[in-house]
Amino acid sequence: MSENKTIHKPVLLNEVIEGLFLQKDDIVLDGTVGGGGYLTEICSKLNGKGTVIGLDQDKLALARVEKNLLPKIKCNLHLVNKNFRNLDLALNNLGIKKVDKIVFDLGISSDQLDNSGRGFSFQKDEPLIMSLKKDLSESDLNASEIVNTWEEENLADVIFGYGDEKFSRKIAKEICKSRKEKKIETTFELVEIIKRAVPKWYLFKKTHFATKTFQALRITVNDEIGSLKEGLVKGFDRLGVGGRFAVVSFHSLEEKVVKSFFKELKKEGTCILINKKPIIPSSEEIKENPRSRSGKLRVIEKI
Ligand SMILES: C[S@@+](CC[C@H](N)C(=O)[O-])C[C@H]1O[C@@H](n2cnc3c(N)ncnc32)[C@H](O)[C@@H]1O
Repeated sequence: MSENKTIHKPVLLNEVIEGLFLQKDDIVLDGTVGGGGYLTEICSKLNGKGTVIGLDQDKLALARVEKNLLPKIKCNLHLVNKNFRNLDLALNNLGIKKVDKIVFDLGISSDQLDNSGRGFSFQKDEPLIMSLKKDLSESDLNASEIVNTWEEENLADVIFGYGDEKFSRKIAKEICKSRKEKKIETTFELVEIIKRAVPKWYLFKKTHFATKTFQALRITVNDEIGSLKEGLVKGFDRLGVGGRFAVVSFHSLEEKVVKSFFKELKKEGTCILINKKPIIPSSEEIKENPRSRSGKLRVIEKI
């Protein structure tokens, strides 16, 4: 899979578009283009006016949008292959000082989960890479490096801290034991190791026993929490007064960062919360797209 059509279904699409309160001349920054679901709708609302800047750290996501969506939409659009933690650089390069609207839809897309070949899913036997970047340089971290070289204590801390996995110590111990015999190279090898480390009853829980470890490794590889904190600060800095910032998060760690950042701004008196409680998908949306179930949308307006 490379530039084929996206299989990603946008989460909370109507709620995001409503929350952004788009005006025709807006300059909009979509920090996480993914399958281009939000982007298409934003462009359609601007109807050929305004400007849209679309960032994604995955080159393939942008290539897919460029090939499949661009020919169909009328939009003054700039696609930039950058992490949103560097949104200031992207805007500087375009000569844009302030934007009117920003949206971040965090985590990975279904295209990455199901078709990237980069080891995001414990249901597919793939190399343990887990990086959102398509082309990795020598200095970029990958999941194989973490499980094969990090000390047991650090591994356990990450699996606990970013995965909230209660068997983190046992899993870290089993990883270190296994790698002495053979380098851990694939997702299925890691799943087998986790299976050996956790108690039997844990294997039959509704949530797959490898979910939390995989989440923790992905967050670590991509420094997702660090990027989010930096992206929020830089985004708010480049947002004009009256501008809106919408963020969709998918797990409690992200949600905590977004909630406390917005709460702090409100305390300072620099924003109002458009929704006091996070907006969550309707039961119809969850039925149609089960992956939407943990989505939470928060929107603020700069004052
Ligand atoms: C959930 S998908 C976005 C889906 C999109 N809103 C849509 O409607 O199709 C998340 C996308 O954001 C990208 N991404 C995640 N974190 C990022 C970051 N810090 N900077 C830039 N892109 C990021 C991922 O590569 C992925 O393509």
